[in-house]
Amino acid sequence: MPITVLTSISETRAHLESRRTSNAKSGPVVLVPTMGALHEGHAELIRRGRELSGDDGTLVVSVFVNPTQFGPNEDLDAYPRSLERDEATCESCQADVLFAPSAAEMYAPDHSLDIRETRLSVGLCGASRPGHFPGVCLVVMKLFGIVQPTHAVFGKKDYQQLAVIRRLIRDLNVPVEIVGAETVREDDGLAMSSRNENLTEGERRAAPGIRAALLAGKEQWERTPDLKPGVLLRLVRSRLEQIEGGQIDYVELVDGETLEPAEDFTRPVVVAAAIYFSQARLIDNIEFGPVPPGE
Ligand code: PAJ
Repeated sequence: MPITVLTSISETRAHLESRRTSNAKSGPVVLVPTMGALHEGHAELIRRGRELSGDDGTLVVSVFVNPTQFGPNEDLDAYPRSLERDEATCESCQADVLFAPSAAEMYAPDHSLDIRETRLSVGLCGASRPGHFPGVCLVVMKLFGIVQPTHAVFGKKDYQQLAVIRRLIRDLNVPVEIVGAETVREDDGLAMSSRNENLTEGERRAAPGIRAALLAGKEQWERTPDLKPGVLLRLVRSRLEQIEGGQIDYVELVDGETLEPAEDFTRPVVVAAAIYFSQARLIDNIEFGPVPPGE
């Protein structure tokens, strides 16, 4: 079946309703929300979505560059857009529906709702991008309201976003199962991101240093009994500082669940970093603990 591309909310609702009520397609409805410029990381999420939906379910991919999650000085206008290519990617990953609304379709001119998660979204990216997570929560709730999925797939590359969305649906009792998918990387370790397109050649060569720095931190933990969080962080920071053309926004060691600064390694932890390049800000993270290998 060719993919159905829809841009209007009412048509999308009607289309999904007619599938839900048809006997052959009444299985799970899986949503993979994206901002487009799809790469292999997104494609993996979509394939995972297909596994979850099965043949009798419906797999919906949304492509929407959501203006409410960009700050006034951020890269909304420079954000890459490639709807035709995205359609081909969705089709090759066997999505049923591509929902690609305009900003005017999604937001009434006088829209006035604010959804503010107040714990998990304060640090890390939330600290340097104050309106970002409220914008993400708002658009994700809107997409859930439009598509009414049984499952939604999000990537661990955006570790904090995944945690905030899990909290959002828990605290608002939204009946959707959130599925987290592993980060997909280029051969040189760089986490795939639509924003990689905005790196200069030199920056692209240097950017795998982010992954290398995070890995060096994890390896230090594996080698060093009684490692202090501060020592690990200094090591990762100094490696990140060596990335040519990069500027550290943050690098932090946090508890994998609460996202509060980790005081020790008795629970799973995450080292998360954000690095500015001339035209792109890239994020990555690494999870480990609490038991080092061999213990
Ligand atoms: P976007 O950056 O397009 O990412 C869409 C989804 O793809 C997110 O769940 C993200 O974590 C995942 N993803 C991106 N790069 C990945 C990679 N290399 N490996 C695995 N998964 C990856 O995240 C957003 O859009 C938006 O904030 C959105 C949730 C769509 C709300 O507007």
